Amino acid sequence: MYAIEVERLTKIYGKGETAVTAISDATFQVRPGELVAILGPSGSGKTTLLTAIGLINEPTHGKVVIDGAAVADEGWLPGLDLKRLRREKLGFIFQAHNLIPFLTALENVMIALEINRLTRREATERATELLASLNLGHRLHSYPTALSGGESQRVAIARALANRPKVILADEPTAALDTENGRNVMALLKKLAVENHSAILVVTHDRRMVEGFDRIFRVSDGRIVGEDGNGISRDFT
Ligand SMILES: Nc1ncnc2c1ncn2[C@@H]1O[C@H](COP(=O)(O)OP(=O)(O)OP(=O)(O)O)[C@@H](O)[C@H]1O
Ligand SMILES: [Mg+2]
Repeated sequence: MYAIEVERLTKIYGKGETAVTAISDATFQVRPGELVAILGPSGSGKTTLLTAIGLINEPTHGKVVIDGAAVADEGWLPGLDLKRLRREKLGFIFQAHNLIPFLTALENVMIALEINRLTRREATERATELLASLNLGHRLHSYPTALSGGESQRVAIARALANRPKVILADEPTAALDTENGRNVMALLKKLAVENHSAILVVTHDRRMVEGFDRIFRVSDGRIVGEDGNGISRDFT
């Protein structure tokens, strides 16, 4: 079984003369445990692709299946609980990190775990371990306003990964980070792919991060124009 199946996915924003086709006819599958990079110029449709797969941006045409659940076929399938599917199957890492301002770093991660029925003690252990692996062991009790941009980003990453989701969607997760922290994030993603068999799609421009990926999709003008195994770095500019 695939973790992500996309067939002829198309997303058109707007109607008539001002319509923009942001993703056109994308077809691919991602297996559990695969780490896939999405590369392409600004405006090529990378974020649209992630959000259409991620149950936040309704596809205009085509099919999407997430972890065995059909979610879209010419638009969302009727009767879906999108919120619940997102919570149970998906982990998102976006650049706007939306930490809850009145909770500490640790509590921001724990809240994702408590919603999913872990005990408080288990949640504390898991959240502490995740934050430590992202170099935030010394910031557990800091509030978001006291964190740097890169630290906030890593807390948001810990929160997105806390429940070991089957599908992880990340939009430039390392862009705001220095080399060491960028590597830690990639190592954590790789670990989740291997140990938890999560399928992971990562939009990146970051050539430092290319080594860990199993496959690379290149997007141009709304189309997936190429797919490479690893070992290809000529596309990074
Ligand atoms: N909500 C929207 N309404 C209308 N057009 C949109 C909307 N979101 C994106 N677009 C358009 O769709 C196209 C693809 O945008 P998208 O954000 O997916 O690109 P991207 O590859 O993520 O770019 P970047 O690297 O700059 O983040 C662009 O032409 C953009 O202007
Ligand atoms: Mg984008």
